[in-house]
Amino acid sequence: MKIGIIGSGNMGRSLGILWAEQGHDVFFGARDLEKGKAVAEAGHGTKGGTNDEAAIFGDILLYTVRGVNPAEVFSSTEVLSGKILIDCNNFDIPEGFAFPPIVQSLAEKLAAEVPNALVVKAFNTMAQEVFELAPTPLKDYEVSVFVAGDDSQARQVVMSLAKDIGFAPVDCGALRNARMIEGVGDFIRFLLISQLQNPYTTISVNTLPPAQQQRLGGRQTSNLH
Ligand SMILES: NC(=O)c1ccc[n+]([C@@H]2O[C@H](COP(=O)([O-])OP(=O)(O)OC[C@H]3O[C@@H](n4cnc5c(N)ncnc54)[C@H](OP(=O)(O)O)[C@@H]3O)[C@@H](O)[C@H]2O)c1
Repeated sequence: MKIGIIGSGNMGRSLGILWAEQGHDVFFGARDLEKGKAVAEAGHGTKGGTNDEAAIFGDILLYTVRGVNPAEVFSSTEVLSGKILIDCNNFDIPEGFAFPPIVQSLAEKLAAEVPNALVVKAFNTMAQEVFELAPTPLKDYEVSVFVAGDDSQARQVVMSLAKDIGFAPVDCGALRNARMIEGVGDFIRFLLISQLQNPYTTISVNTLPPAQQQRLGGRQTSNLH
């Protein structure tokens, strides 16, 4: 697939290199043309240049520019028409990790700013350090990537990109659910920065085999969930 990286910092550089290693065509974009070119020196046939060039190049774009309206990043947002725009962003961490409730996710804000693009939330619930383990030994640990977006085909594409680099994608349905996924992003950062102080802290969703017997009486009728 042709992937354009918008902002080639920690997330853009890491994911771009991983996808290029898997045979995808990757273009690193940056505000500064020379920076984009420098990141492309990572090899694997990657190219580098401006964010405009990356957006034109990619059918799938990784948007790592937190909270900035694409109208300020590109000469024209027309370039995003019909493209899959992966939003990996998390809100800034407030004092004492006192996150306010999320009433509009960053992904929904992005989708409202560029209604012509297919925005998909993903890759916001693990630290950069985890990408350093990809695709092996990462794939042995089944680390979840939560994927939400209103276009089901776009979600499938992003899920396959997550799988390519050793993650276990979880289909989370509509883009509105990015509010919960960003909440998980806040929670994991609270855990890994404040509590465990270990950037290799991850979340894996497991579905267990059903119990052979319901010796506790099983689930009884209740109005509570
Ligand atoms: N790092 C992690 O472990 C991690 C994990 C999960 C999610 N995230 C989320 O991913 C997002 C990116 O994080 P990061 O660690 O990659 O940050 P980063 O290393 O600081 O990279 C951010 C990128 O955004 C670009 N940028 C900033 N303001 C811009 C603007 N006004 N116009 C155009 N480009 C702009 C920067 O370009 P310049 O280089 O030109 O300044 C840089 O390439 C954040 O929302 C973060 O919360 C990060």
